[in-house]
Amino acid sequence: MSKKTIGIFVGSLRKESFSRKVALLLAEMLSGKFETRLIELGELAMYNQDLDDNAPPAWTAFRESVKAADAFLFVTPEYNRTIPAVLKNALDIGSRPYGQSAWSGKPGGVVSVSPSKMGGFGSNHNLRQAVVFLNIFMMQQPEAYVGGAADIFGADGKIKDDGTRGFLQAYADAFAAWIEGF
Ligand SMILES: Cc1cc2nc3c(=O)[nH]c(=O)nc-3n(C[C@H](O)[C@H](O)[C@H](O)COP(=O)(O)O)c2cc1C
Repeated sequence: MSKKTIGIFVGSLRKESFSRKVALLLAEMLSGKFETRLIELGELAMYNQDLDDNAPPAWTAFRESVKAADAFLFVTPEYNRTIPAVLKNALDIGSRPYGQSAWSGKPGGVVSVSPSKMGGFGSNHNLRQAVVFLNIFMMQQPEAYVGGAADIFGADGKIKDDGTRGFLQAYADAFAAWIEGF
Protein backbone atom coordinates (compact mmCIF):
# COMPACT_ATOMS: atom_id res chain seq x y z
CA MET A 1 0.00 0.00 0.00
CA SER A 2 1.33 3.46 -0.85
CA LYS A 3 2.24 5.82 1.95
CA LYS A 4 -0.17 8.56 2.97
CA THR A 5 0.94 12.09 2.13
CA ILE A 6 1.17 14.84 4.72
CA GLY A 7 0.90 18.36 3.33
CA ILE A 8 2.94 20.71 5.51
CA PHE A 9 2.20 24.44 5.63
CA VAL A 10 4.53 27.00 7.19
CA GLY A 11 3.07 30.35 8.22
CA SER A 12 6.29 32.30 7.63
CA LEU A 13 8.09 33.40 4.48
CA ARG A 14 11.24 34.41 6.36
CA LYS A 15 14.39 32.71 5.07
CA GLU A 16 15.66 31.83 8.55
CA SER A 17 12.18 31.12 9.90
CA PHE A 18 12.14 29.13 13.14
CA SER A 19 8.77 27.71 12.12
CA ARG A 20 10.22 26.40 8.87
CA LYS A 21 13.07 24.76 10.77
CA VAL A 22 10.59 23.08 13.10
CA ALA A 23 8.50 22.01 10.10
CA LEU A 24 11.53 20.48 8.38
CA LEU A 25 12.45 18.60 11.53
CA LEU A 26 8.91 17.24 11.89
CA ALA A 27 8.94 16.26 8.21
CA GLU A 28 12.13 14.32 8.81
CA MET A 29 10.61 12.61 11.85
CA LEU A 30 7.48 11.64 9.91
CA SER A 31 9.15 10.68 6.66
CA GLY A 32 9.61 6.99 7.51
CA LYS A 33 5.91 6.26 7.58
CA PHE A 34 4.60 9.03 5.32
CA GLU A 35 5.35 11.08 2.25
CA THR A 36 5.90 14.61 3.52
CA ARG A 37 5.40 17.56 1.23
CA LEU A 38 6.08 21.18 2.10
CA ILE A 39 3.41 23.16 0.26
CA GLU A 40 4.69 26.69 -0.34
CA LEU A 41 2.47 29.72 0.28
CA GLY A 42 4.64 32.63 -0.83
CA GLU A 43 3.47 32.84 -4.44
CA LEU A 44 -0.25 32.87 -3.66
CA ALA A 45 -1.86 36.18 -4.63
CA MET A 46 -4.25 37.55 -2.02
CA TYR A 47 -7.60 35.83 -2.18
CA ASN A 48 -10.24 37.68 -4.19
CA GLN A 49 -13.61 36.06 -4.73
CA ASP A 50 -13.89 37.72 -8.15
CA LEU A 51 -11.11 35.43 -9.39
CA ASP A 52 -12.74 32.14 -8.39
CA ASP A 53 -13.99 31.41 -11.93
CA ASN A 54 -10.67 32.35 -13.50
CA ALA A 55 -8.20 31.41 -10.82
CA PRO A 56 -4.51 32.33 -11.00
CA PRO A 57 -2.45 29.22 -11.86
CA ALA A 58 -0.74 29.36 -8.44
CA TRP A 59 -4.16 29.06 -6.73
CA THR A 60 -5.10 26.08 -8.88
CA ALA A 61 -1.79 24.35 -8.22
CA PHE A 62 -2.19 25.02 -4.49
CA ARG A 63 -5.74 23.64 -4.42
CA GLU A 64 -4.57 20.50 -6.26
CA SER A 65 -1.72 20.02 -3.77
CA VAL A 66 -4.14 20.33 -0.87
CA LYS A 67 -6.54 17.84 -2.46
CA ALA A 68 -3.68 15.40 -3.07
CA ALA A 69 -2.66 15.38 0.60
CA ASP A 70 -4.17 12.87 3.04
CA ALA A 71 -3.39 14.96 6.13
CA PHE A 72 -2.31 18.47 7.02
CA LEU A 73 0.34 19.75 9.39
CA PHE A 74 0.44 23.49 10.10
CA VAL A 75 3.56 24.99 11.65
CA THR A 76 3.10 28.66 12.33
CA PRO A 77 4.42 31.71 14.10
CA GLU A 78 2.14 34.17 15.82
CA TYR A 79 1.62 37.64 14.39
CA ASN A 80 -0.23 40.00 16.72
CA ARG A 81 -1.83 37.06 18.55
CA THR A 82 -3.21 35.46 15.37
CA ILE A 83 -1.87 33.46 12.43
CA PRO A 84 0.12 35.40 9.82
CA ALA A 85 -1.85 36.64 6.81
CA VAL A 86 0.02 34.32 4.46
CA LEU A 87 -1.42 31.29 6.22
CA LYS A 88 -4.94 32.67 6.47
CA ASN A 89 -4.77 33.52 2.77
CA ALA A 90 -3.85 29.92 2.00
CA LEU A 91 -6.71 28.58 4.12
CA ASP A 92 -9.14 30.86 2.27
CA ILE A 93 -7.85 29.96 -1.19
CA GLY A 94 -8.11 26.25 -0.41
CA SER A 95 -11.66 26.70 0.88
CA ARG A 96 -13.10 28.05 -2.38
CA PRO A 97 -14.85 28.08 -4.86
CA TYR A 98 -17.89 27.68 -2.64
CA GLY A 99 -18.77 24.02 -2.18
CA GLN A 100 -15.40 22.82 -3.48
CA SER A 101 -13.20 23.15 -0.42
CA ALA A 102 -9.96 21.21 -0.69
CA TRP A 103 -9.64 20.88 3.10
CA SER A 104 -12.69 18.98 4.22
CA GLY A 105 -12.68 15.62 5.94
CA LYS A 106 -8.98 15.05 6.57
CA PRO A 107 -6.92 14.90 9.77
CA GLY A 108 -4.63 17.76 10.80
CA GLY A 109 -2.36 19.12 13.47
CA VAL A 110 -0.87 22.46 14.46
CA VAL A 111 2.44 23.41 16.02
CA SER A 112 2.96 27.05 16.93
CA VAL A 113 6.45 28.48 17.25
CA SER A 114 7.69 31.68 18.86
CA PRO A 115 10.79 33.16 20.44
CA SER A 116 8.53 34.16 23.33
CA LYS A 117 7.74 31.89 26.26
CA MET A 118 4.07 31.59 25.29
CA GLY A 119 4.97 29.59 22.19
CA GLY A 120 2.41 31.19 19.91
CA PHE A 121 -0.59 30.08 21.97
CA GLY A 122 -2.76 32.75 20.31
CA SER A 123 -1.93 31.71 16.77
CA ASN A 124 -2.35 28.02 17.60
CA HIS A 125 -5.93 28.57 18.72
CA ASN A 126 -6.66 31.18 16.08
CA LEU A 127 -5.78 28.56 13.46
CA ARG A 128 -7.99 26.01 15.19
CA GLN A 129 -10.97 28.36 14.94
CA ALA A 130 -10.73 28.42 11.13
CA VAL A 131 -9.80 24.81 10.47
CA VAL A 132 -12.55 23.38 12.64
CA PHE A 133 -14.98 25.27 10.40
CA LEU A 134 -13.14 23.86 7.37
CA ASN A 135 -13.89 20.37 8.71
CA ILE A 136 -10.29 19.37 9.26
CA PHE A 137 -10.19 16.84 12.09
CA MET A 138 -7.56 18.38 14.33
CA MET A 139 -5.54 16.35 16.79
CA GLN A 140 -6.41 17.86 20.16
CA GLN A 141 -3.72 16.27 22.32
CA PRO A 142 -0.85 16.60 22.64
CA GLU A 143 -0.83 20.34 22.02
CA ALA A 144 2.40 21.87 20.72
CA TYR A 145 3.52 25.37 21.64
CA VAL A 146 7.23 25.74 20.91
CA GLY A 147 8.59 28.68 22.91
CA GLY A 148 12.11 30.09 23.12
CA ALA A 149 12.55 29.33 19.43
CA ALA A 150 15.53 31.66 19.04
CA ASP A 151 17.57 29.45 21.38
CA ILE A 152 16.84 25.93 20.17
CA PHE A 153 18.74 25.87 16.87
CA GLY A 154 22.49 25.87 16.28
CA ALA A 155 24.34 27.96 13.70
CA ASP A 156 23.95 25.10 11.23
CA GLY A 157 20.15 25.44 11.47
CA LYS A 158 19.79 22.06 13.18
CA ILE A 159 18.08 21.70 16.51
CA LYS A 160 20.47 21.69 19.43
CA ASP A 161 18.02 21.52 22.31
CA ASP A 162 17.40 17.88 23.22
CA GLY A 163 14.31 18.69 25.29
CA THR A 164 12.57 20.32 22.33
CA ARG A 165 13.69 17.53 20.02
CA GLY A 166 12.17 14.94 22.36
CA PHE A 167 8.98 16.97 22.65
CA LEU A 168 8.67 17.25 18.86
CA GLN A 169 9.39 13.54 18.44
CA ALA A 170 6.56 12.74 20.85
CA TYR A 171 4.30 15.11 18.91
CA ALA A 172 5.29 13.48 15.60
CA ASP A 173 4.58 10.00 17.01
CA ALA A 174 1.15 11.07 18.25
CA PHE A 175 0.38 12.79 14.97
CA ALA A 176 1.39 9.67 13.03
CA ALA A 177 -1.02 7.61 15.13
CA TRP A 178 -3.75 10.24 14.62
CA ILE A 179 -3.37 10.09 10.83
CA GLU A 180 -3.20 6.31 10.74
CA GLY A 181 -6.53 6.19 12.58
CA PHE A 182 -8.31 7.74 9.58
C1 LIG B 1 4.13 41.50 12.41
C2 LIG B 1 4.66 40.68 13.55
C3 LIG B 1 3.86 40.41 14.63
C4 LIG B 1 4.33 39.61 15.68
N1 LIG B 1 3.50 39.30 16.71
C5 LIG B 1 3.89 38.37 17.62
C6 LIG B 1 2.96 37.88 18.59
O1 LIG B 1 1.81 38.26 18.65
N2 LIG B 1 3.40 36.91 19.43
C7 LIG B 1 4.67 36.41 19.39
O2 LIG B 1 5.00 35.53 20.17
N3 LIG B 1 5.57 36.88 18.49
C8 LIG B 1 5.21 37.84 17.61
N4 LIG B 1 6.09 38.28 16.65
C9 LIG B 1 7.48 37.81 16.68
C10 LIG B 1 7.61 36.48 15.93
O3 LIG B 1 7.28 35.44 16.81
C11 LIG B 1 9.05 36.31 15.42
O4 LIG B 1 9.35 37.32 14.47
C12 LIG B 1 9.26 34.93 14.83
O5 LIG B 1 10.62 34.73 14.58
C13 LIG B 1 8.45 34.73 13.55
O6 LIG B 1 8.45 33.38 13.19
P1 LIG B 1 9.47 32.77 12.14
O7 LIG B 1 10.81 32.71 12.83
O8 LIG B 1 8.94 31.43 11.83
O9 LIG B 1 9.51 33.68 10.95
C14 LIG B 1 5.65 39.10 15.61
C15 LIG B 1 6.45 39.38 14.51
C16 LIG B 1 5.98 40.15 13.48
C17 LIG B 1 6.87 40.41 12.29
